[in-house]
Order: sequence, then C-alpha cells, then structure tokens
Amino acid sequence: MVAAGDGIGPEVVEATLYAMDGLGLDLELYIEPVGMAGVQERGAPITDETVEIARDMDAILFGAVEKPPPDVDYRSPLLTLRKELELYANVRPARPLVPTHSRLGPVVPGGPVPQLDVVIVRENTEGLYVRREHVIEDGVMAERVITRKASERVHRFAFEWARAHGRTKVTCVHKANLLRRSDGLFLETFEEVARDIAADIEWSDMHVDAMAAAMVTDPGSQDVLVTPNLYGDILSDLAAGLCGGLGLAPSGSYGEDGALFEPVHGSAPDIAGQGIADPVACMLSGVMMLDHLGHPEAARRLEGAVLDALASGVSTPDLGGEHGTLGFAEEVRERL
Ligand code: NAD
Ligand code: IPM
Ligand code: MN
Repeated sequence: MVAAGDGIGPEVVEATLYAMDGLGLDLELYIEPVGMAGVQERGAPITDETVEIARDMDAILFGAVEKPPPDVDYRSPLLTLRKELELYANVRPARPLVPTHSRLGPVVPGGPVPQLDVVIVRENTEGLYVRREHVIEDGVMAERVITRKASERVHRFAFEWARAHGRTKVTCVHKANLLRRSDGLFLETFEEVARDIAADIEWSDMHVDAMAAAMVTDPGSQDVLVTPNLYGDILSDLAAGLCGGLGLAPSGSYGEDGALFEPVHGSAPDIAGQGIADPVACMLSGVMMLDHLGHPEAARRLEGAVLDALASGVSTPDLGGEHGTLGFAEEVRERL
C-alpha cells in the first residue's frame, strides 16, 4: 500500500516510485489517501477500511502527514497504523551518506573524522504515544506506559536485527535514574533478554541525556540503540541532523505481520509544493522495503544508485544542490 499523505509526502513518494519503477520489479501498488488528503477525499484522515486493507499488505510505503487544523476531528493515520498493525519496532539507521554533509568534524584536530553509524530501534507502540492526557487541578497529566511485553519484544528485535546485520553492540537507552519503575522495567527486561539470547553480542546501557552527548562528542562509540518511544523519536532526528539532515534519514516499522516504511521527516510545510524536497530519505525507506519484500538485489541496486548520485554531487537544495525532487529521481533512474 502506498500512503503518500500531505505536504512533501506526495512529492518524495512520487520520486521514489518513479526511481523504483526503473528496477523492473512486478510490484502491485494499492494507493490510499491519508491525512488531510484523506479528509478531503473520504471525510477522514484514515478510514477503518484503509486500516483493514493495510493489514493485508506485504508492506506500506508512507510519505508524511501534517498536524491538522484545530477544528478538524482527527485520528493520526501514522499512529493508527503503527498501533493497529502492532508495528512494534521502528528501525532508524543513520550514517553520513556524503562525508562533506556530515556535521561531525574531527574531535582531535588533524585526527580521523569519527563516523556516526548507528541503528536506532525505537519501541513504537506505547510510552507517551498512548496519548492519554488528563486535565488535573492546575494543568495536565500525561500517562506514559511501559509494559513488559512491549519491552521484551523490542529488545529481542534489536538483538536479532544486530545479529542479522553484522552489528556487534546493543545499548539500551533509558532514564531509569529518574523513572525508576517505568524505565527501570525497560532496562530490566533488556538485561533479561540480553542474558537469554545475546551471548555473542556486546550489550550495555546508557542514560538518554548522556547518549545525546555521546552521539555528538564520540560518535564512533555507538552501534545499535534500543529506546523507549519518545527517546527514539528525538535521538533519530539528532542522528539525522548530524549526518546531513532530515532529507536523508529513512525508517522501517516492523511487526509480526506487517511493515511500514517512511522517511523520518514530516510534511515540511516550509518547502512543500516547491518541488525541492530531498527524496533520499523516502528512497532509502524504499530500499528497506525492498529488503523486507525479499528483493535484496533490487534493494542494493536502488541504494547504490542513490549513493552514486549523491557522491557525484547530485543533490537537492537542503544539501546545497540545484536538483529538484524529480530531477534527483531522474538521475537515480538513469543510474539503474
Ligand atoms: P519536518 O521534518 O516536517 O521539517 C523539519 C525541517 O526539516 C524543515 O525545515 C523542513 O523543510 C526540513 N525537511 C524535512 N524533510 C525534508 C526533505 N525531505 N528535504 C528537505 N528538507 C526537509 O518537521 P516539523 O517541521 O517538526 O513538522 C512539520 C509537520 O510534519 C508537522 O505537522 C508534524 O506534525 C508533521 N510530522 C509528520 C511526520 C510523519 O508523518 N512521519 C513526522 C514528523 C513531523
Ligand atoms: C516521527 C514523527 C511522529 C512521531 C509524529 C508525527 C507523531 O515525529 O515519525 O518521527 O513522533 O513518531
Ligand atoms: Mn519524529
């Protein structure tokens, strides 16, 4: 299923599908309007029917959706799909794709440039994302839910992802010094799972604030990170920013019976409609999707073409280039 959404969502999805078309795969696409496009076409940002269709799909390619105007009765398509399909592990890899765009300079003058090369595995179904806010006497209280079940499955996923992708270290990111019970449970289950299944993998833990600093000052020290929902949201934008910007950062959300692939960025209203959005994040999400669909060769071809275009200096204005979204896609397609 293709759900392009709002703002730059349809622009980067169109560019991605155009490039992917050059792979000559026989993919059957099912297009569904979501977000404000869904409100206009179907009277709802996501219908129950769309959710049922999504359940039957091998994969979902999602663009982005924008925050609705305050007067619209809204249920978030993205959070609905993540929750309803139990897409419990959100994988967000980040590494500088083009060295010149990395914000990470040498720590020691003249020394080697450290490489940030992390995979953030973010718990994707609970935490503050249960969105239960209650008015209290002098303000609002928000519930943050951490369960043993959701914690255990995301930790298992992180170790299995690490092993399958030749990664050697998994770090649990938490704030158990403050949230002793909830993040304490997240950490405790991590240690239990690690002792159970990760004899071949190095594992440790770190407070989320210290992790944010380490990603900037000692970027080469990190590998796979497993985080509660909101910490992963924030750290993945930090990692994207360090590696060249949100225009480059892909993601995949995985469950037992489904998967959704989307750029980490949002609908970027400040540049929407201008044809200048960077499609790389969406294209690399497409690469993750092709791997998931069992087309690893096509995935490597598409990835190679995107990286080759970037290495040749082809880029959109966020990276200082002069190509438009579709112009970039044309360059990728030619390389296929
Ligand atoms: P954003 O990611 O949309 O934009 C942040 C900045 O990054 C902007 O300056 C934007 O121009 C730039 N940017 C993002 N993607 C880019 C790309 N592909 N190419 C070039 N520049 C790019 O985040 P925001 O401004 O916090 O949110 C805007 C809207 O998007 C909000 O309504 C928010 O709720 C929504 N949002 C949706 C998703 C999603 O659908 N997955 C994710 C994040 C934010
Ligand atoms: C993301 C986005 C979403 C999130 C928003 C739009 C709810 O920021 O996918 O990173 O916080 O998960
Ligand atoms: Mn985010």
